[in-house]
Amino acid sequence: MKKLLSVALLFALLVAFVPASLVTAAPPAQGEDYTVQADDWLSKLADKFYGDVNAYWAIMSATNQANAEDPSYARIENPDTIEVGSKLAIPAQDDAVAFMADFDPTEGDVSKLFASGASGQLLVGNWWTAGGEFAGVNEVYKIYREENPDVELIHAGLAGGAGVNFQAANLNKLIAGDPYDTFQLHAGLEAELYSPEEYLQPVDDILAETGVLDVMPEDLKALLKIRGNTYTVPLNIHRGNVMWTNTEVLANAGVEAPATFDEFFAVCETLQGQGVVPLGMGIADGFELGHTFEVVLAGTVGADTIKGLFNGSVSWTDPGVAQALENFSKMLDCTNDDRSTFNWVGGIDLVINDQAAFNIMGDWAYGEVIAKGAIDKVTWNSPPGNQDQFFLVSDGFAITKDAPNPENAREFVRIMTRKEAQEAFNQNKGSICARTDCDYSTGFPGGGAYFQGSADDFATNAIIPMVTHGSGAIPTWQGQFGQIVTQFSSDRDVAAAQNAFVLAAEDAGFPQ
Ligand code: GAL
Repeated sequence: MKKLLSVALLFALLVAFVPASLVTAAPPAQGEDYTVQADDWLSKLADKFYGDVNAYWAIMSATNQANAEDPSYARIENPDTIEVGSKLAIPAQDDAVAFMADFDPTEGDVSKLFASGASGQLLVGNWWTAGGEFAGVNEVYKIYREENPDVELIHAGLAGGAGVNFQAANLNKLIAGDPYDTFQLHAGLEAELYSPEEYLQPVDDILAETGVLDVMPEDLKALLKIRGNTYTVPLNIHRGNVMWTNTEVLANAGVEAPATFDEFFAVCETLQGQGVVPLGMGIADGFELGHTFEVVLAGTVGADTIKGLFNGSVSWTDPGVAQALENFSKMLDCTNDDRSTFNWVGGIDLVINDQAAFNIMGDWAYGEVIAKGAIDKVTWNSPPGNQDQFFLVSDGFAITKDAPNPENAREFVRIMTRKEAQEAFNQNKGSICARTDCDYSTGFPGGGAYFQGSADDFATNAIIPMVTHGSGAIPTWQGQFGQIVTQFSSDRDVAAAQNAFVLAAEDAGFPQ
């Protein structure tokens, strides 16, 4: 006993005199509590206690389980941020090892990281991790949590704009029989990715029972139907084609926002002559190039032709496609050279931070403008040629057929149909409601000017379901479209790209 005590004392002295980063604690034989110190982070603690940086998941899980019993323990939602002074539960070495043996973070084993409420969990799979994105969905969470305090709602957010990482991970989970309760998907053909008859529950009864169908735009309703059933409860309508403009950069340069491609290229030359980046762009998520080309294509060939290209009534040999590729190539020459080093958020950040005049992106970028307090200097215009066209991108949630907590999921999507939930969500997200009766004049940033304008345009413009965001083409065709555009962005070979489009359209079942 004496010996044990002196070992403990020696260890305490060591702790006192050795910098924290060099200290390796004895692996805990029993669970213990730990108070977070400055400069602690979870993987560092995992290394210290277990000699395994990855075992931070075990600490997160144990702490969240402890929090459910005793709120003096921290609730860790995001392992990257733990607050100094908060109390953690450090599991015993054996328990940590057992947890890690059974835990696969790449499989999105996220439910194991949290406790279960008296009425179970609600596992919400999505890709909303950027500032405006999370701020939006968190408003829906707040309503759900307030009304369902017995349910442990888990935000399972996997970064990657447009769902580039989430969609594959989600499909794997469905196939593996380990589904989220509910997950984010776009209205339209994206549902086909998830074999809806096999893996999803129809939500037609929920839509009917809530009365939301009476106020849902017809274009959206049509998009939601898959072989007679609806699998998605829509939360918003994003506009995919907006040119975000920094008014101060433009004023300083003495130029005005261009409306046509010719005007755009003239402004581009003037700005470049002054050392200003005309078109800010970030492409690291992989969807941004295809997105921008789609907007340029519509601006070049018009709404009817672009829809025809994707429904087989217009061939990709159309000379307008070649012209659009030429326009796109010239536009790429107006962008920042480091575009591949950051994603769409970095692209809109260039405009927010006065480093570029324009950014072409959907209005989720407005969510970033709002979150970063820049609405006074960032305004919106139609990208060249896009006047009177509205690219429809709608986010919604589906319920999985084998949802572990089906009732919780049904209640979650029921809340999403409500006017006040959609208003709270959309004023952070940059989108308009998936219902026609929202009031954009109260609570919305900037007096709701952007939102009301978008709603008015949605009611009057030509609506184009956006391919890059899952609405306008089956997933394989969408994927090939993006790949062809990415290839073109490096080789700039118009004929090769046009040929590749022809083959991809034929693959998708549209003889050219
Ligand atoms: C879109 C989605 C938006 C936004 C954006 C960037 O596909 O509809 O809600 O999140 O991706 O991630």
